[in-house]
Amino acid sequence: TTILLLWAAIGYLLGSVPFGVLVSRAFGLGDLRKVGSGNIGATNVLRTGNRKAAFLTLLLDGGKGVVAVLLARWLAGEDAAQLAGLMAFLGHCFPVWLGFKGGKGVATFLGIVLALAWPVGIAACATWLVIAAAFRYSSLAALVAAGLSPVWALLLGHGSAVLLSLALAVIVYVRHNANIARLRSGEEPKIGGR
Ligand code: G3P
Repeated sequence: TTILLLWAAIGYLLGSVPFGVLVSRAFGLGDLRKVGSGNIGATNVLRTGNRKAAFLTLLLDGGKGVVAVLLARWLAGEDAAQLAGLMAFLGHCFPVWLGFKGGKGVATFLGIVLALAWPVGIAACATWLVIAAAFRYSSLAALVAAGLSPVWALLLGHGSAVLLSLALAVIVYVRHNANIARLRSGEEPKIGGR
C-alpha cells in the first residue's frame, strides 16, 4: 500500500505539470489562460497561432501520461501503473500549481491509454484524427475518442484497460461540459478557425 500511495503521488505530480502554460510562456505567447477557451491544452495553444508550441504541448501532455504509466509499471507492476495513470490524469485536470484549475485531459488520456495497452491507444488516436479531420472540432474528436476507448479495449482484447479508460472517459465528458453546450448551440470554434 505504501508503494501504491507513492506511485499515486508520483503520477499526480507528473500529471500536474501544466505544459501548455509553460510552453506558451517559453514561446512568449503570454498567459494561455487568457487565450481562447482559457483551457491549458494543446488545442488552445493552437489558437495563439503557434503550431510548434501546440504540437510540443500535445507531446509533453501526452508524454507525462506515458511516463507515469511506464515508470510505475517498470518499477512496481500493473496495479501501480493503472493508479499512476489515473493520478496523472487527475493531476492534469486538477493541478495544485494552478489552484486545481487544470485542463480537460485529452492529450494525457491518449498518452495513458497508449502506455497501458498500445493497440487501444493507437485506436483512440486514430479515432481522434478521423473525427477531427471530418468535423474540425477538437472537443468532438476528444469526446468520441474517449467514449470509444473502452469499446476499443474490449474489442481488441485488452480487458485490463477497460475500466480505467471508462473512468477517464467519464471525466473527459464532465470536463467538456462547456464544449458540449457550445457544440449543441453551434458555437464551438473549429480547429484552425476562430
Ligand atoms: O482537448 C481539449 C479540447 O477537447 C477542447 O479544448 O480549448 O477547445 O476547450 P478547448
